[in-house]
Amino acid sequence: MSDRSSTGGYDPSGIDLDAWTKLEEQLEQSIPHYDKVNRWMTLGQDSIWRKNVRNHAKPGMKILEVGCGPGSFAEDLVGLDVTCLDPSAEMLRVAKKRVDSARKSRGEEPAKYVEAIAESIPLPDDIFDRVFCLFSFRDFQDKKKGLEEIFRVLKPGGQLVICDAGKANWFHGLAGRIWMATVVQIIARIITKEKDHPWKGLARTYSHYGTNRYYRKVMREVGFEDVQGRLLLPFGMSSRFRALKPKRRPEE
Ligand SMILES: C[S@@+](CC[C@H](N)C(=O)[O-])C[C@H]1O[C@@H](n2cnc3c(N)ncnc32)[C@H](O)[C@@H]1O
Repeated sequence: MSDRSSTGGYDPSGIDLDAWTKLEEQLEQSIPHYDKVNRWMTLGQDSIWRKNVRNHAKPGMKILEVGCGPGSFAEDLVGLDVTCLDPSAEMLRVAKKRVDSARKSRGEEPAKYVEAIAESIPLPDDIFDRVFCLFSFRDFQDKKKGLEEIFRVLKPGGQLVICDAGKANWFHGLAGRIWMATVVQIIARIITKEKDHPWKGLARTYSHYGTNRYYRKVMREVGFEDVQGRLLLPFGMSSRFRALKPKRRPEE
């Protein structure tokens, strides 16, 4: 991944497979402390961001969460038909236990689980009302391909909502990199009690992540409409993107 730091955060190139495989190992190692480190490194804002994304769903909708990780978001999707997708079998194992136990306690059917990458979703076209991506878009190997696949599985008129680390521009990205390289490392070290904790590597995905403007452009190229992507205030640590798959015209 190191070559791509020269892009200054405007990253059009995608992550190479070796870097992505290493990233997946680090993400799996993060599972035991994932929620706690997240809470501290975002100053408790992560639960507010998750709620913000959740509020885009309406009762009974068919939802796909891409990059569900250990289920931190999907467990709170209430009254919805939920499919969780992740390339890591270990993440899915933890998510299934957690999400299905929450669903059972609410008298809901278990969620569905798909082991796959966003860039190749083994599901039919036009089936989801909403696709949510929380803190996983940054990890896609090829973000444009992932967006194309998400577009394909969304119903016409369906909406994509992404929440991830924010990067408004190069200077904002620099502030984010300093935060990741200092505060986040100290928090992860204290919580994991390990010198070589996985957040050392995870901070790198932020360095190589593009700006909001860049991903808004990619979303439009893929065919999304009403594309929005901005920092979430007051802290501006994360960004939320919203984009619609156009409704079919009558003659189609
Ligand atoms: C930081 S976790 C996010 C977990 C969860 N969505 C949350 O709200 O906290 C990122 C997840 O993205 C997954 N991921 C990485 N690359 C991916 C890809 N190409 N397609 C889909 N998911 C991917 C990882 O396996 C990991 O479980």
